[in-house]
Amino acid sequence: MIKIKYIFGIVISIFTVIIILQSCTAQKAMIANKSGAQLWGENCLRCHNTPTPTDFNDEEWKTIGLHMQDRANLTNVEATKIVEFLCSAN
Ligand code: HEC
Repeated sequence: MIKIKYIFGIVISIFTVIIILQSCTAQKAMIANKSGAQLWGENCLRCHNTPTPTDFNDEEWKTIGLHMQDRANLTNVEATKIVEFLCSAN
């Protein structure tokens, strides 16, 4: 009887670890699949109205990207995608 409980416990732990790992990969994949435009819409409106891509030139967007990455707590990948989107749209 004790053995069965022991094995049951191990099986449950393995399942828990698999589920946690899967949800992490799913989340990462979701972020990886987001386009620059989508990330821009979701992140840049939190504190102020979003300036349109044509408001600044490419050099200005790169500087603003660094500045706002810090403020918005974005990863390098997210910030790069947003800056690429802003530069491509003007
Ligand atoms: C946590 C709040 C916050 C988020 C999120 C945020 N900003 Fe800002 N943003 C500010 C503040 C505060 C200012 C004005 C003061 C300053 O320049 O630091 C500002 C200023 C700006 C300016 C004016 C130029 C400048 O650099 O001062 C632009 C353009 C801008 N933000 C773009 C963006 C973009 C694009 C994003 C998304 C990546 C973003 N912001 C996300 C807080 C935020």
